[in-house]
Amino acid sequence: MSTAISPTAYNYKVVRQFAIMTVVWGILGMGLGVFIASQLVWPELNFGLPWTSFGRLRPLHTNLVIFAFGGCALFATSYYVVQRTCQTRLISDSLAAFTFWGWQAVIVGAIITLPLGYTTTKEYAELEWPLAILLAIVWVSYGLVFFGTITKRKTKHIYVGNWFYGAFIVVTAMLHIVNHASLPVSFFKSYSAYSGATDAMIQWWYGHNAVGFFLTTGFLGMMYYFVPKQAERPIYSYRLSIVHFWALITLYIWAGPHHLHYTALPDWAQSLGMAMSIILLAPSWGGMINGMMTLSGAWHKLRTDPILRFLVVSLAFYGMSTFEGPMMAIKTVNSLSHYTDWTIGHVHAGALGWVAMISIGAIYHMIPKLFGRAQMHSVGLINAHFWLATIGTVLYIASMWVNGITQGLMWRAINDDGTLTYSFVEALQASHPGYIVRALGGAFFASGMFLMAYNVWRTVRASNPVEAEAAAQIAVVGAH
Ligand code: HEM
Ligand code: HEM
Repeated sequence: MSTAISPTAYNYKVVRQFAIMTVVWGILGMGLGVFIASQLVWPELNFGLPWTSFGRLRPLHTNLVIFAFGGCALFATSYYVVQRTCQTRLISDSLAAFTFWGWQAVIVGAIITLPLGYTTTKEYAELEWPLAILLAIVWVSYGLVFFGTITKRKTKHIYVGNWFYGAFIVVTAMLHIVNHASLPVSFFKSYSAYSGATDAMIQWWYGHNAVGFFLTTGFLGMMYYFVPKQAERPIYSYRLSIVHFWALITLYIWAGPHHLHYTALPDWAQSLGMAMSIILLAPSWGGMINGMMTLSGAWHKLRTDPILRFLVVSLAFYGMSTFEGPMMAIKTVNSLSHYTDWTIGHVHAGALGWVAMISIGAIYHMIPKLFGRAQMHSVGLINAHFWLATIGTVLYIASMWVNGITQGLMWRAINDDGTLTYSFVEALQASHPGYIVRALGGAFFASGMFLMAYNVWRTVRASNPVEAEAAAQIAVVGAH
């Protein structure tokens, strides 16, 4: 068999590259998460240096886990899914390769600039303007590859997973470009084009929809392909998936003001954000139930298939965090939870339980197929990874619930004479045990990623280029 790439084969090369980098950035981003979690237990770990201080490494953690780990998982799976469900090769190999190298360049740029202190100071949009422009160019290229591939599809229908990926790509471009509008004053410093409450609103319109479209809609695209594939069952209700799509994207865009309760933002905008967030529960749970019910008649597979377990447990955490979110959006609840570790717990219920678990499940599903192997090197190691990830997530979020509610109650406790019952430092001392448990939970989760790296490496090593290319050839004539 020839190793030459047939024009009829799928482009698996770029999918393989992004899939491998998902694991690499996952280890780095989560490893850094464990490090900053440890800094909150042992402040000496700041080493007294600006570059290694919590304030600089925290945004590096969020950039690495969201954009490097999550982003690579989204690129890998969307390129895989769009080719297989459209039964066609990506529209341009060179543009796809540009998105891979361009994306890695943005990440390396973040690793260099954030510890040096170059930042716009806008959360999740910290990268200064040269990197932000590179990111925009890469993203538009991504859109061209994705939608271009859809236009040359061999199938009549556009599978629902692609609708979710498509919305994620379009809305992320819109958010990034609008929120980054700024005036550069030097190569490393720019000022936002907006000011005051408008700036805050634009930032949280961006921030919340980064959650809604980057961390949710994109991963739902993943869910709609990989859950039915791994369960070997059709999606429970295709009609529900369409309703889910339109309801979710219509509602999400309005919920941003729940990040700005009790601020200078007009009261009506806060109430609108709260109302929309509560309504969001409905489509979120519709999607979660659609995914779960896909297992009807296949539940027994959970006993033997740890990949399916990753996917199903991710849906359970998705359901949990999208129940918790609307509750936290209620102004009276938010007055307790805001600024506390409860928010951090909620974030990681979504980030570890949903985003990371579904990505891990999808990567385990894809790796053997991308490298022409029947299955991963070791199913036992996937199982061990599953338990480390699940226990790690539970330790993380349970400790943050305890800390968050403790902090919220201690901060608002008032004596009869109107003075505060507790000083801030007393609340911090009460949080210390929770920080230890969180760091432990994070270490569990991150160590699972090392098992994954070893398992992936062994699977890839057992493959050869001929087998790998043959996998791409067979797939194009096989059913999606
Ligand atoms: C081993 C796993 C992880 C550990 C130990 C960890 C730890 C941490 C810590 C200590 C913080 C700072 C909390 C604070 O300021 O009090 C943080 C923030 C954050 N992490 Fe993680 N993290 C992990 C994985 C992830 C993953 C996989 C994601 C996303 C996919 C993520 C997303 C975030 C976000 C968005 C924030 C900022 C939250 C906010 O500002 O409210 N983390 N993480
Ligand atoms: C219906 C769904 C959801 C709603 C209504 C919602 C609502 C909320 C609320 C009210 C906050 C606290 C805002 C504050 O007090 O500052 C919050 C924070 C956050 N949520 Fe959610 N949430 C939802 C789902 C999710 C999911 C699935 C994820 C992750 C994958 C997620 C990630 C985050 C992040 C990263 C923050 C912290 C933002 C920051 O302050 O830096 N949320 N969410």
